[in-house]
Amino acid sequence: MKLISNEQQSAARAFLVSGMVWMAVGATFGLLGGMALAAPEVFGNVPWLTFGRVRAAHINLVVVGFVPMALLGAGLHFVPALLRTRLYSERMANGAMWVWNAALLLGTITLLLGHSQAREYADYIWPVDALIVLAFVLLLYDLGMTMARRQEPLMYVSVWYFAAAVVVTGSLFPLGNAMWNWNGAMSGVMDAILLWFYGHNVVGLLLTPLAIAAAYYLVPVITKRPLYSHTLSLVGFWTLLGFYTHIGGHHLLQAPIPAWLKVISVIDSVMMMIPVLVVLINLWLTARGRYGELLTDLSGRFIFLGTVNYLVVGIQGPLQSLPSVQRVTHFTNWTVAHAHLAVLGFAGMIGLGALWYTLPRVCGRLLWSEKLANLQFWLVFVGVWAFMLILTAGGVVQGNAWINGETVYRTVPMIAPYMQLRALFGVTILLAAYLGLYNVLMTIYKGKRIER
Ligand code: HEM
Ligand code: HEM
Repeated sequence: MKLISNEQQSAARAFLVSGMVWMAVGATFGLLGGMALAAPEVFGNVPWLTFGRVRAAHINLVVVGFVPMALLGAGLHFVPALLRTRLYSERMANGAMWVWNAALLLGTITLLLGHSQAREYADYIWPVDALIVLAFVLLLYDLGMTMARRQEPLMYVSVWYFAAAVVVTGSLFPLGNAMWNWNGAMSGVMDAILLWFYGHNVVGLLLTPLAIAAAYYLVPVITKRPLYSHTLSLVGFWTLLGFYTHIGGHHLLQAPIPAWLKVISVIDSVMMMIPVLVVLINLWLTARGRYGELLTDLSGRFIFLGTVNYLVVGIQGPLQSLPSVQRVTHFTNWTVAHAHLAVLGFAGMIGLGALWYTLPRVCGRLLWSEKLANLQFWLVFVGVWAFMLILTAGGVVQGNAWINGETVYRTVPMIAPYMQLRALFGVTILLAAYLGLYNVLMTIYKGKRIER
């Protein structure tokens, strides 16, 4: 096996495996963080196990590692298929995969050693950022050349979303990480505005379009029905780009940013219901009359639950953008609940569904165990919804206590039971990640070969 292989589908396969590896490592750091919040003395004073370092390692591993890598892996399979051509260069995509993985490894080690730019979702230090930008440049070129050589004149909606994710994030990454400065930051409030313009778009314009691209490809394939409406898909695409790009200010409603920025952020956060509902209506109407097929299919089940979670996220997000609601919920575990439902419950679920669909096709082997993959579905389902309910309740307790003038010193014991329960349910997600990794590796090495 060559390190930078030119074999067809090898890059898609490698991205999928990487996604699952980082899910397992990322969830491990999540659980370490969860344990520290449930029992703050548990790791003593070991520097690399302090909450601040473990938390940053966790978030970056899942937001930059697990979810995008799994979804990119699936996309590297279905985008060339939709364009009726081969990927321009498997070597280039494999190169991007190695650079990306090197960045995650180096980024995690340096964060654990205490080297951080201390900006959420932009924590990695400059050299790591440079590696990520290089990976994006390679992918951009490869994707651009593949599109230029396409045999299919029609650009299906999944291609639009996939390309937008790579183009937007590729150009946004150096900007949001303030890469013209070695310290990776600007000063004061300007930096907060830039950071949240970027941080918000990482989840909104990398994870979201990659997940929607996969859902738009897989729902019609699994249900064997044409997409309900091409027009609706374009409305969803342009409204996503139109509204999502500039609402990062909703993370800073309690900060001294200009009032006009807050107003725009809040109004367009509410408008975000349009792209969310348009996508969901289009996907659900595509599957109408064929829900049996969708729900009995392994990947279909993951994807359907991902879309239901997207609906909840799409209602919760606009709601928590309202200043009156955020007065209670900001700086509390409410936001952490939203983050897990969105990143794991929506984009991660669809990423896992796309992974189980794509893996056998890019390995030429049958899935090692459908039962294990199904068990993973239930474990993630239970884990993510337990997180959602526990952290939302804990967040409301926390927020109201602060409004009533309680100090942090007194609110911490109030939310202790919620933190303990979250750590407990974290184990289900951790188990799901390791079972998934085992299943992926067994499929690659031991899966029954598919006769062609
Ligand atoms: C593998 C799937 C997972 C994904 C995609 C994920 C995603 C995230 C995200 C996006 C955040 C940032 C939240 C925010 O700042 O509002 C976060 C924080 C966190 N996650 Fe996860 N997570 C996963 C698994 C886990 C697991 C298994 C645990 C175990 C308990 C866990 C525990 C935590 C903790 C403790 C934080 C920090 C919360 C805080 O700062 O108060 N996560 N996670
Ligand atoms: C659909 C419309 C959405 C709206 C209007 C929205 C709104 C918000 C708001 C207002 C916050 C900040 C809450 C606070 O700090 O008080 C937030 C946080 C967050 N959102 Fe969303 N959201 C949406 C969808 C999504 C999606 C699809 C994802 C991921 C795929 C996502 C991931 C996150 C994460 C990770 C955070 C935590 C950020 C942090 O660490 O503080 N959101 N969202």
